[in-house]
Amino acid sequence: MFDPLSPEMLRDPFPVYAAMRREAPVHWHEPLRAWLVLRHEDCTRVVTDSTVFSSDIAVLGEEPPTAVIGIQNVDPPHHAAVRHLLVRGLRGVDMRDWVKTCAEYAEKLLAGADPDRFDFIREFAEPLSLESMRLLFGVPDFGEPDRFHAAQRALVLSMDAGLDPTRGAAGVPAREYLSGLLDPWVAEPPDDGLLRHVDFDAAGPLRRLLVNSLRQVLVAGFSSSSSLLGQAVHLLVERDLLDQDEPMTLSTAAYNEIVRYTSVVQADSRACAEDVEIGGQRIERGQEVLAVLASANRDPEVFERPDELRLDRAPNPHLGFGRGAHSCLGTALATALHVPTLNALSRRYRVEPAAAAEIRPSATLRGLDRLPLRLLPR
Ligand code: HEM
Repeated sequence: MFDPLSPEMLRDPFPVYAAMRREAPVHWHEPLRAWLVLRHEDCTRVVTDSTVFSSDIAVLGEEPPTAVIGIQNVDPPHHAAVRHLLVRGLRGVDMRDWVKTCAEYAEKLLAGADPDRFDFIREFAEPLSLESMRLLFGVPDFGEPDRFHAAQRALVLSMDAGLDPTRGAAGVPAREYLSGLLDPWVAEPPDDGLLRHVDFDAAGPLRRLLVNSLRQVLVAGFSSSSSLLGQAVHLLVERDLLDQDEPMTLSTAAYNEIVRYTSVVQADSRACAEDVEIGGQRIERGQEVLAVLASANRDPEVFERPDELRLDRAPNPHLGFGRGAHSCLGTALATALHVPTLNALSRRYRVEPAAAAEIRPSATLRGLDRLPLRLLPR
């Protein structure tokens, strides 16, 4: 049954998606009050056709607080304008230096690890993702670490407000807090990094949207990035791929297969801006549509033996980083950070599970709260 916060679906949602994809690939889900779209072809259409499937929730008749609205929630032309400013800002950052400094930090975390009980989430994935964003933004810190983590967690849990309305309220102050962390640096940019290279003056009236979009970069760069790192290592450990005599050498193709297989961003929401037919169903203007990317990534029409992890899979047109105008702005960053990091972990240690992983109770962004590992030096 489709109950994404149930323990069964939090552990493994893919059998449920497979059944829905076969039986009702586009259907109305009353509790969510949204259309669920499960096939690869239909999900691709939903996330790429921004004229029909808008990112602006005002189309649903909802008035979101301004604190919430960033690049992920706007359509062209504002979307293109803000994305352009972010891309130009990112181009100003020395990526080689960023990757190198992140790798040094990762080495430091691994060198200081207790090999008998290493919580990969709390002691590696989260601190590395936080440091990677600190370096990217060019700031000395993101305030008090406990508050930062609490805000990120509240925000991630609030993504499931459609499934559990009690989670929604905490998301707004969390977003305000995280955007507020950036405000002083926007007023007085640091010497280097993304905040130095983003042209705030060019944003004109879109300045608030741009700052909120930078917050979305920060949230994705911490939460999506650490969630993926955790899921990736959990998967590799489960498959004994980090416990081999020879260290693993993960290629970019293999990394993309992990992104497909784990699908940490489970679904993308859009608002139907005009009446449309998709997968034989008539969807009306003003209704919400959820493209279930995780289901699309296991669609047998597109992926041969989709439930097999094939590290040499090619081609691999997964939707794990989205597709189209709103596709992940951090794909290159995440890949450049994660591939060498996972390889460095494997070069230094053979890795075994030390205890069961604890699953974070979040459905939209799948992740772990704890991943206890045993590290065996090579
Ligand atoms: C350095 C790390 C990352 C950064 C800075 C980042 C940043 C972003 C930003 C700013 C967007 C919004 C783009 C837009 O609306 O135009 C986005 C979208 C997206 N990101 Fe990332 N991201 C990162 C890592 C990841 C990871 C690890 C995943 C999953 C494996 C992921 C999956 C996605 C997806 C699926 C979307 C599309 C959302 C949509 O269509 O509405 N991201 N990312």
